[in-house]
Amino acid sequence: MITGRQTMSDKTKGSRHSELVREIQYHDHRYYVLDDPEISDFEYDRLYRSLVELETSHPELVTADSPTKRVGATPRADLVSVTHVAPMTSLDNTYSESELRDFIRRVKENLADDEVVRFCVEPKLDGASVELVYRQGRFVQGSTRGDGTTGEEITENLRTIRGLPLVIEHRDPLTLRAEAVIFRRDLERVNERRLLEGEQPFANPRNAASGGLRMLDPREVAERHLRLFVWQCLEGASLAPSQAIVLDRLAALGLPMHQRHKVCDGIDTIMEYLTSLDRSRRDLPFDIDGAVVKVDSFAQQGRLGKTAKFPRWAIAFKFAAERAQTRLLDIAVQVGRTGVLTPVAVLEPVQLAGTVVSRASLHNQQNIDSLDARIGDLVSIEKAGEIIPQVIAVDTGSRFPGAAVFRMPDTCPSCGTTVVRRGEEVALRCPNARCPAVIRQSILHFSRRFAMDIDHLGESLIDQLVERGLVADVADLYQLDMNALKVLDRFGPKSAENLLRAIATSKEQPLERLITGVGIELIGQVASRQLAEVAITLENLLAWTAEDVQEKLGTIDGFGPKMVEAVAVFLTDESKRNLLNKIAAQGVSRAQVANQTQRTGPLSGKSFCVTGVLTRPRDEVHAAILAAGGTVHDKVKKGTQFLVAGDKVGKSKLDAAKKNGAEIIDEARLHAMILG
Ligand code: IVH
Repeated sequence: MITGRQTMSDKTKGSRHSELVREIQYHDHRYYVLDDPEISDFEYDRLYRSLVELETSHPELVTADSPTKRVGATPRADLVSVTHVAPMTSLDNTYSESELRDFIRRVKENLADDEVVRFCVEPKLDGASVELVYRQGRFVQGSTRGDGTTGEEITENLRTIRGLPLVIEHRDPLTLRAEAVIFRRDLERVNERRLLEGEQPFANPRNAASGGLRMLDPREVAERHLRLFVWQCLEGASLAPSQAIVLDRLAALGLPMHQRHKVCDGIDTIMEYLTSLDRSRRDLPFDIDGAVVKVDSFAQQGRLGKTAKFPRWAIAFKFAAERAQTRLLDIAVQVGRTGVLTPVAVLEPVQLAGTVVSRASLHNQQNIDSLDARIGDLVSIEKAGEIIPQVIAVDTGSRFPGAAVFRMPDTCPSCGTTVVRRGEEVALRCPNARCPAVIRQSILHFSRRFAMDIDHLGESLIDQLVERGLVADVADLYQLDMNALKVLDRFGPKSAENLLRAIATSKEQPLERLITGVGIELIGQVASRQLAEVAITLENLLAWTAEDVQEKLGTIDGFGPKMVEAVAVFLTDESKRNLLNKIAAQGVSRAQVANQTQRTGPLSGKSFCVTGVLTRPRDEVHAAILAAGGTVHDKVKKGTQFLVAGDKVGKSKLDAAKKNGAEIIDEARLHAMILG
């Protein structure tokens, strides 16, 4: 808040702050609700950075509703229950026009003869329903549907959804019901990452959305890019006489609405709407599984009331799931980056939901057994929103006599090594680190957009590089030259130049991407970032002993014991160490160190080690020190001048500070130093 004692320039900063907040909110709405951005990601990032910088130098301007405060840093231990203001009931549903006619007839029978009835027909979003509570114009609580009466409180997770306004221009209480969804394109990205990290991909957007809402760490929720679309307002009748007008009013308040509802006056217009919605559903960026037909007038809704289970004024009309039948030609076994063998159905190509499908997921031996799928069988595949089609049933009646039961192989289909099972795991793995399939997949993973982002390195090129023995691990990429690339088929000097440039550019990628790229088991992008924040350089990371790993990572929020163990195993594995050393020798990911020495500012020439629990994530504190010209050490060593100590600082850190003559300061003092 701006007080009278502040100077003009403070006031200007204050209005600059509100202006930036408003601008970012506007662009969030365009991007996350309307799916129609006006500015590039680059311009958006610039706006966002300006806000972060302004708030770093003027922390008094920060409000709880600032876009920078959407993602809380502290994961929760548990979710707690909340009781909904009114039960979240579900809907009666139908797949047929005649039942829809019956519904309309029943509605009319229960109202007076001369009443005009209109219906608000809306897409039925296929996600997870949530309740959102606004008080005094502020978003104060969010919860999952749960059993309809009691849900789980997920306010912090919902705050990360950028399409959800934290403040609205409406001070009366509002209780909204909405669907959390994930856009198909965002799910593709999430699944791509999960596959590469050895996790099962989500079968459909609904699972990804509902799982996302219930995660304990809001930072991970933010990475799912969830979206919300409101479909009901409990106080609707106090805003307007009908559902359709309320939906429009809520849209005007900046709430996330799908804005695809239509008021219809009878079965003909309803059917017209349903047919056109069904036809265009693949063009929507999110999944719908039908439409909801609601009596539009709240007065009539009230008079119709509800049965023991459902409201009498609404019904869900479900679209048929998209299915096709085709022949299972073969079961291919793929070997992933971590050596895990996965069975994939090779199908006679068939048209399904607008695309030609020739492969479908079979997951594992257990799934194949329970489907009783055999090569040559006629199988049903379904794509009810699923990105990866699933084999859902097998027509065993039409089976060729003698069709053999499928068994996963005992040896790796790529290199012939005997496969192994680790401990209790179901997955079979190829244990050969030199397996061409493992190498190929590792290089592909390393080059992905979210890792080292190496353009021009496609799958067929990687195949050639591996087959010709030019590359046996990711570090070898950095030793390629024009001469080596000459031998490749259909690969001219221009392509070679582009590839070499892309590989050289990737050396500048920060450590967190390198860690993601080399792939440590259980360590995804978020954990890679946390690990990089602590290690700062690859050399530091390589110098860690297993005890160091425990000490440095054991206290990090979200870093469970299994993850700590996985990092220790990785760093003590001879072959992994050799790989990291080889990468380090090529000067990869040195950029962060270079940045530290280049900047000048109030902290120039000063070195810091940051420890303990701080008011903001450690990477933000590190970034603030670096931006002010200081350097960051991952541990207190000779030459470390300041130990910035938050809460719960370990005794060893304090002892090291005393021994090395580092001054112990708190976060507020650091802040004062940054402000000069
Ligand atoms: S109205 C009492 N409208 O479908 C009225 N529901 O089967 C309750 N859903 O739990 C629902 N889109 O999660 C309504 N436009 C929409 C919807 C919608 C999706 C979900 C919602 C609800 C379920 C009912």
